Amino acid sequence: MSVRILGIETSCDETAAAVVEDGQAILSNVIASQVTLHAQYGGVFPEMASREHVKAITPVVQQALREAHVGWCDLDAIAVTYGPGLPGSLLVGLNFAKGAAFGQGLPLVPVNHLEGHLYAHWLRTDTLQAKILDFPLLALIVSGGHTELILMRDHGQYEYLGGTLDDAAGEAFDKVARMLELGYPGGPAIEAAARRGNPRAFELPRAWLSDSYDFSFSGLKTAVLRALKKYNGPRPAHLVEDMAASFQAAVVEVLAEKTARAAREFGVNSVLLSGGVSANTVLRQAVRTRVTEPVYALPLVLCTDNAAMIAAAGTYRFQEGVRADWDLDIAPGLPLAKRSA
Ligand code: KG4
Ligand code: ZN
Repeated sequence: MSVRILGIETSCDETAAAVVEDGQAILSNVIASQVTLHAQYGGVFPEMASREHVKAITPVVQQALREAHVGWCDLDAIAVTYGPGLPGSLLVGLNFAKGAAFGQGLPLVPVNHLEGHLYAHWLRTDTLQAKILDFPLLALIVSGGHTELILMRDHGQYEYLGGTLDDAAGEAFDKVARMLELGYPGGPAIEAAARRGNPRAFELPRAWLSDSYDFSFSGLKTAVLRALKKYNGPRPAHLVEDMAASFQAAVVEVLAEKTARAAREFGVNSVLLSGGVSANTVLRQAVRTRVTEPVYALPLVLCTDNAAMIAAAGTYRFQEGVRADWDLDIAPGLPLAKRSA
């Protein structure tokens, strides 16, 4: 018997719903992005995000059911992100999911958003074949809100190896893009500009933080700002492209080096790249050059926030018997795992 789960995701600025079968087959994956709305503020405006979720959630869920050709009675459960994320945004998805589960008599499965980013790797699409993933696995989750290195020893067993002490990698891309007047979101704009720039044009700092698996990008961001301040008058040709390329090279080098070192230390069988920043082709290439084991990246739609990944993670939790209590609250700072000793 197959298990069909409706996933709901509203932790940041994407209102998303998806139907997934057996944690692998995507029957539908609907995403209403608010990116153009937030672009005018240069970043996500939390209150606006919550209000957009309120408007979008019902039509997005209806569309996900319609595109999957299923009704409520064909579902086994509803999986919903309850953290980490923006409080007001999480509340909309969780409350909707509770109401729907209660009304339809379906079990509700709580999902950690970061766990969703990991389980995106178990999904299949027309262009993406199911892969055999042998534990232990190392995952680098890099997005607008997260930069984490996670060791996954089995389904549901995570060890936190390190993470950012200040800005997330995607946040650094977004902030530097703003300094370079490249618009929002910054990651794709920086990657595009960097293709025409020289990554060695500016010597920018790399925060190695000795032998830890932690990251820090605030010093790098300040160094970019300081370097740009020297050009008060007309900016020389290629300044933006060269700075974009130099900045990207600095972020990518630290992410890729630490990922490769962790892969060696823990003897993992494969490396999984997840989150919006993992769409970056220079990062993918840099990790692949340094790691001997298979390195898996995802199609863009599964790198960034979506509900198929929440349904996939929810399927595993559902099969383990995990159910939400009706008084479940949001958990905006929910960690995926404790820091290993
Ligand atoms: O996973 P995601 O959609 O949302 C969060 O959970 O935060 O990630 C969005 C982040 C943004 O900061 C965006 O600038 C970054 O991913 N991003 C990229 C690229 N595409 C998106 N960063 C670097 N290179 C890219 N090609
Ligand atoms: Zn995310």
